[in-house]
Amino acid sequence: MQHFLNHYFPQRLTPPQGPDFVPEHLLHLNEMPLDVPEELKETIAERFKTVAFNRYPEPFAQSLVAQLATWYGCRPQELMVAPGSSAFIRLLLTFFGLNGCGQLVISRPSFAYYQQFCDSFHIPFTPWDLDENFQFVPSALDGLTKYSVVFLTTPNNPTGSQLSPATLRALLAKHPQSLFVVDEAYAEFVDETMLPLLKQFDNLVLLRTFSKAFCAAGVRCGVLLTNSALVSCLSGLQTPWQLSPFTIEAAKEILLYESETHWFKKQVLQIVAERDHLLEDCQESGSEHLSVFPSKANFLLIKSDTAQTHTRLLTECAQRKVLIKDLDGEPNLANCVRVTIGTPQANQLFASAFHKVAQGHT
Ligand SMILES: Cc1ncc(COP(=O)(O)O)c(C=O)c1O
Repeated sequence: MQHFLNHYFPQRLTPPQGPDFVPEHLLHLNEMPLDVPEELKETIAERFKTVAFNRYPEPFAQSLVAQLATWYGCRPQELMVAPGSSAFIRLLLTFFGLNGCGQLVISRPSFAYYQQFCDSFHIPFTPWDLDENFQFVPSALDGLTKYSVVFLTTPNNPTGSQLSPATLRALLAKHPQSLFVVDEAYAEFVDETMLPLLKQFDNLVLLRTFSKAFCAAGVRCGVLLTNSALVSCLSGLQTPWQLSPFTIEAAKEILLYESETHWFKKQVLQIVAERDHLLEDCQESGSEHLSVFPSKANFLLIKSDTAQTHTRLLTECAQRKVLIKDLDGEPNLANCVRVTIGTPQANQLFASAFHKVAQGHT
């Protein structure tokens, strides 16, 4: 069996910090540090009691779709839902990757799942590399062939860099025969979103999620927004009953709660303030061995000058029971880590690990 597994799964995942490492502070998945308020959970629990377990749920989660349309200011036929935006990434990469007449382009570095999925299923793609400061290079798409599909994330994971709506507008206008899929998983952390562009361009798809700003990664709800013709085509590729009734009810109550209280918005503002504080704190150490990149999302990217510094940073974090994301080995991310902004206490622990490594060099 070992040979069988090695043949089909040559790159199996192994825990990076070793089996004995039990983290207390999870700063590796870009989750929000706080769970949703108790009163919201109680309302959701009450809603769960009304769910008929013996019946299939709404086939296309229509009641949630209607509520989301109001939320995003579009028509219900212009959006669809799935268990997480990664389900949409999978659907789009599979369909366009296997049926494409143009190029499948994926910005790089990006959310690792894009490349991992393509690699696992042998879907060929053209990388669109960010520059050495991790900024987008729009001119690199000048030679895009028609009927191409371009995937990009903004604010980008794991670099925190952003593509401006004006630049995206120019790309959409320049390549009207190609489709741009813009992963906006972290959109709530910035002021500008791409939503208004949906009204002007039919070659745009936006992906949103409840996993980040809505503090609901466990609920598994992703949203795709585009024009009604494309929604109708893509809906035919999904299996019906994508969302469990629990996801549907929880997502609806989360939206309602946010409209009434703005609780999630307040969490986002707090994370943004913590992020800027941590960035400043790390930059003040002035270490030329560790570069911290400014970010528009709920995480920071840090690059060490050598493999030794990189390992020391991971070790100092592990000693404080802080788990961060080791990105070394991923394309263009040698000696890089990504740290999610967590509670003030967890951020402080990370800062102390960072300073220890920075000072160790002076
Ligand atoms: C850019 C990006 N897109 C999608 C996802 C996956 O989100 P979901 O939980 O909705 O599947 C992530 C998760 O970290 C992400 O960073």
